[in-house]
Amino acid sequence: MGMDKIKKDILILGIESSCDETSAAVLHNGRMLSNIIAGQEVHRQYGGVVPELASRAHQQHIVPVVDAALKQAGIQPRQLSAVAVTAGPGLQGSLLVGLSFAKSMALALDVPLIGVHHMQAHILANFIEDAGGQAPPFPFLALTVSGGHTQIVLIRDYFDMQVLGQTLDDAVGEAFDKTAQLIGLPYPGGPQIDRLAKQGNPRAFRFAKPKVDGLDFSFSGLKTSILYFLQKKQKEDPGFIKRNLADIAASVQATIVDILMEKIKEASRLTGIRRWVLGGGVSANSGLREAFRQLAREEGWELYIPRFEYTTDNAAMIAITGYLKYLRGDFSGLDLVPKARWDMPAKK
Ligand code: KG4
Ligand code: ZN
Repeated sequence: MGMDKIKKDILILGIESSCDETSAAVLHNGRMLSNIIAGQEVHRQYGGVVPELASRAHQQHIVPVVDAALKQAGIQPRQLSAVAVTAGPGLQGSLLVGLSFAKSMALALDVPLIGVHHMQAHILANFIEDAGGQAPPFPFLALTVSGGHTQIVLIRDYFDMQVLGQTLDDAVGEAFDKTAQLIGLPYPGGPQIDRLAKQGNPRAFRFAKPKVDGLDFSFSGLKTSILYFLQKKQKEDPGFIKRNLADIAASVQATIVDILMEKIKEASRLTGIRRWVLGGGVSANSGLREAFRQLAREEGWELYIPRFEYTTDNAAMIAITGYLKYLRGDFSGLDLVPKARWDMPAKK
């Protein structure tokens, strides 16, 4: 089929429900018409996402969120070309809500269903038209950092991605959130650490950095070393944490950022690729952005950071991935099942 035969107006509904954000978006070709994101407050009091509560909240949100996305886009369901949905990785029960809904909709409208890999979508978010400038040319490297994942990925083409390194235990976002909890900050702690770090001295305290081979990461040891450090200091002086909050936050953040920067330098050295994209919720961190930008300047790399609404979990990134798959005729059957664990798909 020649390019001229492809329908000019492709409208994709994207649905994301892999963790604790229910999101729906409509894309007209590569352009975003709507991107509705509903967060879940229920997890705050537990200091982390509770899977069962997440599924229930998705069930409450999914209909109004999809409805709002269609309304804001100004389109009728029957105008849709396809329904794209996150099939994994993520929380099984949460994925199931989005997937069941997407299947029913695709069946009712008689349009293709397109299952999307969440981590591919985080990277392909850079190809949404207003993602933040020009799309990155291939090949490039990506650092994706969030509450659920931490990866360095080599991208040769849209659907030719190879994970070069990833966390062996906690994700970067978890490292931020768990440290924040240790010093008494509310969940999610990442943004709080970021805020406090601005007033603190990043060299006030030193924490041991993990020794991990290759491009993989580990953050659970860091959390333990911070815990022991704080316990020792509190024993000597019960007011220690309170009085040193900003310095602790700044030092923790600097340590985490250092760990990330070392690995990305190594990834560029090993691959010879000097073009990077940054994605995932932790890409909001001002220390990380500053360090990455500075490193890129020093090394002469190109750095792409999409608009913030496309870096946290959102359905626009699912819709753009769905669109790119639609152009390739890469559809899913109605027997598609959620995959809580799902490696990056091989080259397509
Ligand atoms: O991508 P995301 O919205 O959801 C997933 O986990 O997939 O990422 C959420 C994570 C949380 O761990 C949150 O604490 C962290 O991103 N985060 C930050 C900042 N903003 C969000 N961590 C550090 N600094 C921030 N400014
Ligand atoms: Zn994510």
